[in-house]
Amino acid sequence: MEHIVINGQQPLVGKVQIGGAKNAAVAIVPAAIAANGICIIENLPDIKDVQNLAASIEKLGGKCRFLDEGKTLEVDASCITTHVADYDLCAKMRSSYYLLGALLGRFGKAEVSMPGGCDFGYRPIDYHIKGFEAMGAKCVLEHGWVKVSAEKLTGANIYLDFPSVGATINLMLAAVFAEGTTKIENAAREPHVVDTANFLNMMGAKISGAGTDIIRINGVNELGGGRYTIIPDPIEAGTYMIAAAITNGDITVENIIPKHMDHLTAKLRDMNCQVEEGEDSLRVYRNGDLKGCDVKTSGYPGFPTDLQPQMATLLCTACGASVVTETVFNNRFQYINELKRLGANLKVEGRTAVTKGNCTFTGAQVAATDLRSGATLVLAGLAAKGETTIGNIFHLDRGYENLESKLRALGADIKRVVVEE
Ligand code: EPZ
Repeated sequence: MEHIVINGQQPLVGKVQIGGAKNAAVAIVPAAIAANGICIIENLPDIKDVQNLAASIEKLGGKCRFLDEGKTLEVDASCITTHVADYDLCAKMRSSYYLLGALLGRFGKAEVSMPGGCDFGYRPIDYHIKGFEAMGAKCVLEHGWVKVSAEKLTGANIYLDFPSVGATINLMLAAVFAEGTTKIENAAREPHVVDTANFLNMMGAKISGAGTDIIRINGVNELGGGRYTIIPDPIEAGTYMIAAAITNGDITVENIIPKHMDHLTAKLRDMNCQVEEGEDSLRVYRNGDLKGCDVKTSGYPGFPTDLQPQMATLLCTACGASVVTETVFNNRFQYINELKRLGANLKVEGRTAVTKGNCTFTGAQVAATDLRSGATLVLAGLAAKGETTIGNIFHLDRGYENLESKLRALGADIKRVVVEE
């Protein structure tokens, strides 16, 4: 088993290259199944979920080849022989649900295990199922499997009760070959929804409106292969921007799309940080003591739920009270139990967490409960007095590439150690 060990209170200073967006990569790799040709996907993050999705495609009979130290993946889905995905591989992550839409779209059937991934409350896939059924698919949930099939998918008008990222992308994947036009209303507007639509259109799909709340997909007969570069990861970038603020350092995140960070930039400025914008970079450092501020998560372009834990941790160290409201998930404050071991003064009431601020973290032994809670414990450890040990870091490896080496290059005293079970 591996732990991360941090000796905190080193201000992090320097430049960090941001990798490809995890939540774009885990949609675009399965989307390559729709191509009757070879896809070359560039700027992939070197993370476990991407490796597991490539392994899932190989188990389906497809061919995958990583190049460029894992940052480029060549996918040949023309040789896929089955619609039944590997149960164990798919149960490891949430994004395996995209195999449903991709296989159903291309082959008219799919069998994928119920998704796994970060456990912060009930995470159903009823919007996905309802959308597939609207297009004429039959869906059965049994023995831990999701089984979908359709003689022929036909275009439908689908209204999402909530702008679900996963359902929006999954229904796009299923609709690319459906007969006629599919309209998704109250669609998610995240950059990785747009990225996935752009990838599919590069292959010959006819998708319009991605990035707005109404997406239209006109079905086509076939998609060819092609080459595509994934957008940079706004959540990885945001994690390093918050690292600059919480360690009183000075970090420039490079190879990003600054506009995708507007939500965090605005909040950091409210907190008395300087955020200097370059063409593909942002530089973050404090302008004196941090001020508290209120944060409410929502879908893009609102403040992202995936930066909520990291932001709440930063707000604990600010001068003055702050309120954090989580509107996307019904139970995304589980990380606070572990954060309290480091001294966090956060009080949860339903969907809000309140901090009085002025907290000084002190090192402790903690364990990650999911991907972003792991990143949050790292941030608190970087700011804490003394040594922090973090267990269950396999969560981190699902979504952050080379985390320790990137932080060490910025001056962090951090290492990964192997410990006996
Ligand atoms: C995606 O999860 C991301 N995961 C999450 O990132 C991210 O937090 C989330 O979108 C919101 O941006 C991937 O892309 C692999 P949703 P997803 O469908 O698709 C409810 C990370 O750390 N809902 O937008 O599961 C759901 O319970 C991860 O990178 C239904 O009720 O999120 C939630 O309350 C964590 N029924 C809300 O909608 C459904 O069928 C938003 O979920 C689907 C969702």
